[in-house]
Amino acid sequence: MNSLDLRDWLAQMEHAGDLQRVAGARREDEIGGIVDIYQRRMGRPTVLFDDIPGFRRGYRVLANILTSRKRAALTLGLPANSTDLDLVRFWRKYLTDAKAVPPAFVNTGPVQENVQSGTDVNLCQFPTPKWHEFDGGPYIGTGCIVIMQDPDSDWINLGTYRLQAYDDGHIAALMVSKGKHGDIIMRRYHQRGQPCPVAVVVGMHPIFLVVGGIEIPYGIGEYDAIGGFLGGAVPVIKGPRTGLPIPTHAEIAFEGTITPGDLIKEGPFGEWTGYYAGGVRNLPVVRIDTLMYRNDPILTGAVPAVPPCDDTYWRGHFRSAAVWGQIEGAGVPGVKGVWAHEAGGSRFWLTIAIEQMYPGHAKQVGLIASQCHAGAYANHYTVVVDEDIDPANMEEVIWAMCTRVDPREDLDVIKGCWSTALDPMSYPEGERSLNARVVIDACRPWTKRDTFPRVARSTKEMDAQIRAKWAHVLPEE
Ligand SMILES: Cc1cc2nc3c(=O)[nH]c(=O)nc-3n(C[C@H](O)[C@H](O)[C@H](O)COP(=O)(O)O)c2cc1C
Repeated sequence: MNSLDLRDWLAQMEHAGDLQRVAGARREDEIGGIVDIYQRRMGRPTVLFDDIPGFRRGYRVLANILTSRKRAALTLGLPANSTDLDLVRFWRKYLTDAKAVPPAFVNTGPVQENVQSGTDVNLCQFPTPKWHEFDGGPYIGTGCIVIMQDPDSDWINLGTYRLQAYDDGHIAALMVSKGKHGDIIMRRYHQRGQPCPVAVVVGMHPIFLVVGGIEIPYGIGEYDAIGGFLGGAVPVIKGPRTGLPIPTHAEIAFEGTITPGDLIKEGPFGEWTGYYAGGVRNLPVVRIDTLMYRNDPILTGAVPAVPPCDDTYWRGHFRSAAVWGQIEGAGVPGVKGVWAHEAGGSRFWLTIAIEQMYPGHAKQVGLIASQCHAGAYANHYTVVVDEDIDPANMEEVIWAMCTRVDPREDLDVIKGCWSTALDPMSYPEGERSLNARVVIDACRPWTKRDTFPRVARSTKEMDAQIRAKWAHVLPEE
């Protein structure tokens, strides 16, 4: 099984030329400002900040973690040259063939190198950045996982939900949206008048961010999922106060409780849509009993922002796989690829490539993709293309839209669809839960399939011959 130690991952990235070190940036504005610039283009290195003014040397911050296809692939144990569709197929396989391997409890781990409890707990010792210029404060939880146990079963859920930090180093505010598994579990405790025990990891190997940020189904433990696809049990220690499982190699972890009605002002915070969508709200407080951290700990940040950003790109692989499975689950054949484009936060834009098999097939695929559970939330554009188009290559997709769409026939506007107040174009005013979207059939018209002009690019056969003979002079793809 791959190492689940962030430091091994960093060594791997450094070896791959994918790590940028930065010394001396302020946590109040400069770390966030540097990450903002790094995130504007995909494929730039991950950034490790040290020597942060006002904090102990070695107390580091890592950001821009999974904004590269190579790093997303290596994190899942896939080859460095995997394509986006290879990553989608990885999750397709997971969704059809998931194996569960429960975590393994061990007695000790590096996370226990430093343990503070009670009044000694102090989150303020870490250089928690204010990530966006107009955020309401520093956010210690972005590249994090929140660990809870269902009160009625042994289901352990991990979810990535943001946490704001305050001048009081014993507390953090938790923003978990209604209906997320963490919210459902928390409310189960609160309905019984009990505090909800919680453990939070804010420095960790990126595999935990991946599973914390994707929609692993209700009742299935994310630790079991990692164990299943990496082929070995995740080693965990028992949180001393809550008994919740915490990865042995966590960099920084804390545990505590959320008491019903205990609220604090949170926000605003820059969101995955690319806007400051919410304002200031009263949200649940995590009161911290125990803080554990490694020597020279690394805080991990995954910062939502104008896409591309670390909140959305790698989640598109999972979402694409889920949409693909749900189209097939509706009984529709012929899907060759699905891509939830990063510029739409991996939600606003979906492209599906199909082998057209019958009249109306493309329209059917578009309508289902834009409405199935994995694709419907906040979608704005669903485009269906022929199988010769790579759905993850936007130049090819736009070419298909420019040359295979008759706007009189091929655009359907659908109103009153499932959205969210985070969507700047949602309606009605006040509730903001609905939107309108367009489904675009950008396939060659079925009735012209035999007469449509031939494509002016080498055939697959010609391409293969050229590549076999001329590989040494050809550019990298
Ligand atoms: C970097 C990042 C930040 C996120 N922030 C939040 C958040 O603050 N609140 C929230 O409800 N979901 C947030 N999400 C989305 C959830 O992590 C995601 O929906 C996940 O599937 C939730 O886990 P669950 O299905 O176990 O509830 C975030 C995701 C990522 C990757």
